Amino acid sequence: MSEQPEKQELIRERFTKPLTEIAHRFSSSIALDKKLYREDIAGSIAHVTMLASVGVLSNSESDVIASGLREIEEEIANGAFVLDDHLEDIHLAIEQRLTEKIGALGGKLHTGRSRNDQVALDERIYLKRAIANLLNILRELQSALVTKAEENLGTVMPGYTHMQRAQPVLLSHHLLAYVEMLERDHSRLSDAAKRLNFSPLGSAAFAGTPYPLDRAEVANALGFDGALRNSIDGVSDRDYLIEVASACSIAMMHLSRFAEELVIWSTKEFGFVQMSDAVTTGSSIMPQKKNPDMAELVRGKTGRVYGALFNLLTIMKSLPLAYNRDMQEDKQPMFDAIETTADCLQMMRVLVEESTFSKERMQEALRDGHLTATDLADYLVLKGATFREAHGVTGRLVGYCDSADKQLWEIDLAVLKEFSSLIDPDIYDALDPIKSVDRKQSSGSTATNEVRSQIDRWKLSLQL
Ligand code: ARG
Repeated sequence: MSEQPEKQELIRERFTKPLTEIAHRFSSSIALDKKLYREDIAGSIAHVTMLASVGVLSNSESDVIASGLREIEEEIANGAFVLDDHLEDIHLAIEQRLTEKIGALGGKLHTGRSRNDQVALDERIYLKRAIANLLNILRELQSALVTKAEENLGTVMPGYTHMQRAQPVLLSHHLLAYVEMLERDHSRLSDAAKRLNFSPLGSAAFAGTPYPLDRAEVANALGFDGALRNSIDGVSDRDYLIEVASACSIAMMHLSRFAEELVIWSTKEFGFVQMSDAVTTGSSIMPQKKNPDMAELVRGKTGRVYGALFNLLTIMKSLPLAYNRDMQEDKQPMFDAIETTADCLQMMRVLVEESTFSKERMQEALRDGHLTATDLADYLVLKGATFREAHGVTGRLVGYCDSADKQLWEIDLAVLKEFSSLIDPDIYDALDPIKSVDRKQSSGSTATNEVRSQIDRWKLSLQL
């Protein structure tokens, strides 16, 4: 009994037995939701300020409560008030502390409110800030990629499909593909931020409350676009959080693909990239090793963020309206998805900055693999063949090259002509992998002028 926190007793008047130790431990969420203390206090201050403006509290009552709450925020920040495990959750912990500090008046804080609308409010405030931070670091990663793309403009590399050498592309073009993906991640998160920017406060437990609350005032004071319309919805749903976890998962999928490419490209076999000593690690046994652990961890942590999304979806699936305690389990995946995504975005930015791409190795890799076979087919089409005929001629020529262990451009004109009379001496230009890039004319292609103008556009929009 002495172990039993007084905090528990705050709302246990109707019970005849104290909560068992294990039930307390099992149901306490303070270890996680203490991270929400700032949000919780901001919400409480807006709530009591509004209670005074509608006459439920006097101005002086509201002021005393608000300044007590500010002091508690300070106490938590400087460690004077320790949010330890004997407490149930952040909401009760702060209310209890307030009553210790200002006496019975503290009991008025929760007028017209429930932890059900309170927790949904705290999460929405937290997510607004978290998204603003993610949006910034997404931009930083994009900027690092654009800078690398500009520095390396002129480096031609093999582009791949099915992990097989396919066609020459500019490395910069490849890097800018990720900038585009990140742009959509930015837009998804911004969108989620707009959709979640409504206040649930005033829903109370779920049915509303008899006090004449000004829900719009609280919403406005906390920077929301308004109050949620339906009090049951206000406490019941977590779609706002699932949406953010989903946007984080998609962003992580992008990061993971890029991380995987860095891992592959840094192998001896490829040698396309060197990550500096500042971001690579050694082996405990093999002294020569320089491992791409940071990229591998980004790839691995992607699983954690997907896990968070599935965790949240599964918690919510089949829950009847309105609030159910299952929903408390949303904190761990919420913090994990946000923090992991933020860490990975930052790590990837540093990885990009600390990477040196090898023009020599990339261009060397263009020599083998008939990367200009499509150029040859397009050449024949320009000379009058249908694309299918051209595809057939080129395919047969590639087969011939393979059996003769030669590259397309190593074949004599006379032999080439045996495959198609449309072939003239200018064919060797078409077979040059470096020149291939600039023959592209479609917008969005890998041609240097296209890529250059995209770099310029990004530099303008990212203010680089
Ligand atoms: N700690 C709870 C949560 O995170 C707060 C809401 C509790 N509400 C209740 N009626 N038990 O969901």
